Amino acid sequence: MRLLIKNIKELVQVETSDYKIRVEGKKMSEIQTIKNAFLYIEDEKISSFGKMDDLKSKNINYSVLSKEIDASGRMVFPSYCDSHTHLIYSGSREREFIDKINGLTYEEIAKRGGGILNSAMKLHDTSDEVLLEESQQRLEEIIKYGTGAVEIKSGYGLTVKDEIKMLRVIKKLKSISPLKIKSTFLGAHALPLEYKDNRKGYIDLIINRMLPQIAGEGLADYCDVFCDKGFFTIEETDKILKEAAKYGMKAKLHVNELDNSGGVQVGVKNNALSVDHLERIDVEEIKVLKNKNTMPTLLPTAAFFLNLPYPPARKMIDSGLGVALASDFNPGSSPSGNMQLVSSLACIKLRMNPEEVINASTINSAYAMDLSKDYGSIAVGKKANIFITTKMNSYPFLQYSFGSNNVETVILDGKLV
Ligand code: NIG
Ligand code: FE
Repeated sequence: MRLLIKNIKELVQVETSDYKIRVEGKKMSEIQTIKNAFLYIEDEKISSFGKMDDLKSKNINYSVLSKEIDASGRMVFPSYCDSHTHLIYSGSREREFIDKINGLTYEEIAKRGGGILNSAMKLHDTSDEVLLEESQQRLEEIIKYGTGAVEIKSGYGLTVKDEIKMLRVIKKLKSISPLKIKSTFLGAHALPLEYKDNRKGYIDLIINRMLPQIAGEGLADYCDVFCDKGFFTIEETDKILKEAAKYGMKAKLHVNELDNSGGVQVGVKNNALSVDHLERIDVEEIKVLKNKNTMPTLLPTAAFFLNLPYPPARKMIDSGLGVALASDFNPGSSPSGNMQLVSSLACIKLRMNPEEVINASTINSAYAMDLSKDYGSIAVGKKANIFITTKMNSYPFLQYSFGSNNVETVILDGKLV
């Protein structure tokens, strides 16, 4: 398949040399764009791009072209990379939504068996087929909003059988979805009720039963732990991550959503690929993250939905850190996987500028899935996962006009979706 997009008003987030694998600090405010541009795609990859004036010199063989798109007035972006979701779940939790409106906190709901345990019960009662169907619908939805690569976690199983059931659904989706998918094992998402008085028993189950079987079937790329107040301790987190590492699963962690949990430190110590949430982060923790491989990842729609303080993105970036943005798509704290909304909130509430937001939701979030060599920017040889916007005056309109879907055309793996 050969595809030519012409007359692009502005081609955003291009790289011409020295492809970056992530950006940090002041560099987050820099992006390269080309006005009045073309983009040429061959098979599933970006083959060339440049100014319309230079298109002639590319000697494109129009007789083998499958399609030509006129993008007059429109922007072209690399697809969003959403590096943190829990989009395999059954049903929804609007009862708790109302409880929260009436004053209960996320922790209080979790303590009385709501929250994650509620979703685990629902998932247990749902067949593999229905679970796959529900999840596939969510993938179709995020594709329409511009996502081109996504990480999906388990964590609503909490038994050997149900964790495997979730991860097999993700494996199936990897093979049938046009999206690039990475999978994460999150057995340590919540302590199941039957282990209420036997924490060690559940950690042993994760280590001795879940991890070996998951690794044996090649079901997970990464391992996550909800390391926070009322969930899992730093010692438990450390123990699980060390075991997961033996199977080659890198860490991606939930930390500092409810408390300064020590999760940042334990994540960095275990060379985690990312530490996510960070609604609170102090100066010491920022220092710990400086010049490390671990990508701090912010989830503004979760803070929005739970009415939590927003992560202090300014403080982090101004201290020289890079940050990634992700949706946290899940039934309890972010029942939306809309990365355009994530981007708008990042501008409005996190005070990130549009360029920082673009870097955080493309190249840096690709890095947080080990994908930035092939995704996260418009560069020759990278995967042709891109979207064309509706007509707009300038690219920050995408974040400015929150609540609308400004993605008009989606191309994944070089194919129109
Ligand atoms: O990232 N914080 C932990 N896990 C999810 C929420 C899961 C749920 O409430 O179902 C999150 O916010
Ligand atoms: Fe999450």
